[in-house]
Amino acid sequence: MKILVTGGSGFIGTNFIKYWLDKYREDVVVNVDKMTYAAVETNHIDTALQYPDRYFFEKADICDYDVMSDIVRKYDIETIVNFAAESHNSYAIINPTVFYQTNLMGAQTLLELTRRGCIKRLHHISTCEVYGSLELDSDDKFQEDSPLFPNTPYNSAKACADLAVRAYIKTYDVPVTLSNCANNYGPYQFVEKMIPLFVTNMVSGKPLTLYKESQNRREWLHVKDHCRAIDDILHKGCLGRTYNIGSGCEKSIEDIADYILAYFGRGDSEKVYIPDRPSHDKRYLLDSTRIRKELGWEPEINFEEGLKETIEWYINNEKWWRPLLERRVVDETKWK
Ligand SMILES: NC(=O)c1ccc[n+]([C@@H]2O[C@H](COP(=O)([O-])OP(=O)(O)OC[C@H]3O[C@@H](n4cnc5c(N)ncnc54)[C@H](O)[C@@H]3O)[C@@H](O)[C@H]2O)c1
Repeated sequence: MKILVTGGSGFIGTNFIKYWLDKYREDVVVNVDKMTYAAVETNHIDTALQYPDRYFFEKADICDYDVMSDIVRKYDIETIVNFAAESHNSYAIINPTVFYQTNLMGAQTLLELTRRGCIKRLHHISTCEVYGSLELDSDDKFQEDSPLFPNTPYNSAKACADLAVRAYIKTYDVPVTLSNCANNYGPYQFVEKMIPLFVTNMVSGKPLTLYKESQNRREWLHVKDHCRAIDDILHKGCLGRTYNIGSGCEKSIEDIADYILAYFGRGDSEKVYIPDRPSHDKRYLLDSTRIRKELGWEPEINFEEGLKETIEWYINNEKWWRPLLERRVVDETKWK
């Protein structure tokens, strides 16, 4: 298969490309990335050296239809997996426009390529956050047909793209699948996100800054399990269908802080509470019955083991993350 991965220099895209090239020894992967502040140039040095005939990189913006169709033609691409996005909720509060540009219009550009028959298959990556927020004591879970009820510019821009996917499937019967995934953790995540932020703060001898609503919780999935789920959807998923991807493993901000403090042998005195960012969702939890029953997927990585391995990856890869610290675009301590 010749597969084009957008946003392949970001967190999940980087892991997905490595996963795919290691597993499918005949396949070619082209990474198209605009290289925003969240992309890391060095992520694929080893991939490019290991697979010089099977890995290619193009710096481009997914919103540019002509450029994207040229790339698709150049490499004779069959399938696109769209990870490209502005992904930081806090940054979206400061600079929402670019979120709607990439997350909605970029996705629509790829849908248009699909509608015009330039590729055989598009898989669009979305998030649990499009469904809105659950109460902490609720027994509900989000199903694939739950209403979209987003609360922030980031997750509303992602929800807009989900609606565009739906409209293209209904109207043009395009060969597209969609997945909504829980919070990912693992190696290569940019240092603005909670787990890398906490770990790199510990390594740097700094305290952990927790949002005041520290009981707010997320469902956590190791990025490798997410990659395996996308693999299953690409090979066995039903065209036109949406799949939720979740682990069922919920942890609060406070829980994560406690795990990380315990790993480093530090205590509660290293927690500093800061005001929440505006519209801080309380909780997301997915019902992932469909992907489990229909495709036989289930997560393989236990949260405690995955988190320990992730902490150790950051400890062992300080050269990777240290230069990224100054690229961060939001000061989380400044919310009022
Ligand atoms: N990280 C999570 O926990 C999570 C959970 C569920 C879904 N998702 C979704 O998965 C996808 C990847 O998330 P991530 O955490 O890897 O994000 P990331 O911010 O680490 O990576 C996004 C990548 O997209 C690139 N990009 C941004 N705009 C672009 C454009 N216009 N054209 C081409 N490339 C562009 C960036 O340069 C970056 O390399 C996103 O769509 C996100 O919404 C993420």
